[in-house]
Amino acid sequence: RRSWAEPYKIKVVEPLRTTTREEREAAIADAGYNTFLLPSKDVYIDLLTDSGTNAMSDRQWAGMMLGDEAYAGSGNYYRLEDTIRRFYGYRHVVPTHQGRGAENLLSQSLISPGHHVPGNMYFTTTRFHQEKAGATFHDIIVDEAHDPTLDAPFKGNVDLAKLAALIDEVGAERIPYVCVAATVNMAGGQPISMANMRAVRELTQRHGIAIYLDATRAVENALFIREREEGYGSTSLADILLEFCSYSDGCTMSGKKDPLTNIGGWLATNDEALFEEARNLVVVYEGLHTYGGMAGRDMEAMAIGITESVELAYMKSRVGQVRYLGELLDQWGIPFVRPVGGHGIFLDARGFYPHLDQEQFPAQTLAAQLYLEAGVRAMERGIVSAGRDAATGENHHPSLELVRLTIPRRVYTQAHMDVVAESVKACYDDREAARGLRMTYEPKYLRFFQARFEPL
Ligand code: F0G
Repeated sequence: RRSWAEPYKIKVVEPLRTTTREEREAAIADAGYNTFLLPSKDVYIDLLTDSGTNAMSDRQWAGMMLGDEAYAGSGNYYRLEDTIRRFYGYRHVVPTHQGRGAENLLSQSLISPGHHVPGNMYFTTTRFHQEKAGATFHDIIVDEAHDPTLDAPFKGNVDLAKLAALIDEVGAERIPYVCVAATVNMAGGQPISMANMRAVRELTQRHGIAIYLDATRAVENALFIREREEGYGSTSLADILLEFCSYSDGCTMSGKKDPLTNIGGWLATNDEALFEEARNLVVVYEGLHTYGGMAGRDMEAMAIGITESVELAYMKSRVGQVRYLGELLDQWGIPFVRPVGGHGIFLDARGFYPHLDQEQFPAQTLAAQLYLEAGVRAMERGIVSAGRDAATGENHHPSLELVRLTIPRRVYTQAHMDVVAESVKACYDDREAARGLRMTYEPKYLRFFQARFEPL
């Protein structure tokens, strides 16, 4: 248990505010039973996301003072570019304000109407940009990923047979690239193995298809490879990361996760033509190609954050804290996705509420209940997040109907995890009382962010 003790101590603290049950009832009703619409002042422990919620180190804060806020050619950009080349291994870097900015550049540059993009499960913004650029998305993750109860080491793996079948069906020339995510967020932060990544490379290379990695949590993925894959037990995370990335042609990146910052991202590529196109497009959507929407100081903090993210003791404590929460929940038989992934615990809302139909939004209901119980904010990752089919307009019905307790990096303590676990247990004990929700407002794009609901 102690093996994951934090390799740092606390220097600055931020007060938390607690609320009464009455205050929370008013707040969640005002928010349309959508935790995205709660003001953070009404939240006690905020597990909405691990995105941009990281605590920076003293070195990163010191780096902020070295911000070179020049419009063009900021020194911090060159430092970031060097750092990305060194740790991720790609030749060219285009900075963006965050991950979806990079997804927009990649999708616009490589996808034409009629194209098909396979991915190891979808991510909301990633699939959105692919479809907006005219592609049809195909889920090629292994079947095991869709079963929350199944315990397997690499549930993020690509199913090579599914990929091969798609190539046969639509033709390699209509697949601009395969999108591989490591770890797989929507599957519960599940990793993909080095062997699988290598095999995807071999298969796609034969057909001349590129691979773009969603490297958002690739360092967390590297820890799983070290722990679970033969031959990597004493390899450094930095070496694992480099090898993993070497089987791809580039990546999109949300700098708000692994790189331990609050904002930022990038597109990286080894492809000269894509680099040329994306470096041109970035000035339209993000900013000049030497800042891409980030301040100089943000780029400096990210460069430093990348070097901290590959430190083994840090990554063990990061994932160790998530596992600690999982162990607590396990004692009480609470249903969540097995095995515990990298960035959070994904509660199985179907397991909580077998009496609710998926159209009654079980996961949305559970996220609202958890907030009501203790002011803990989580996020729906089920039918609301999955949205509608771009062609038919029908609701997608994902097999996973989950509530994500996402752990921000270096932010909360073990006692906070205890509070979270007890709050989840209270919701579980009260599970039969849940009645579900009705959607009263549905935005056109990425509806989960702003949709509103009322109790049934
Ligand atoms: N890819 C993955 C796997 C992500 O988890 C995210 C963001 C993105 C891309 C988009 O990056 O937010 O910087 O534009 N995930 C956040 C989350 C929002 O809460 O899971 P972004």
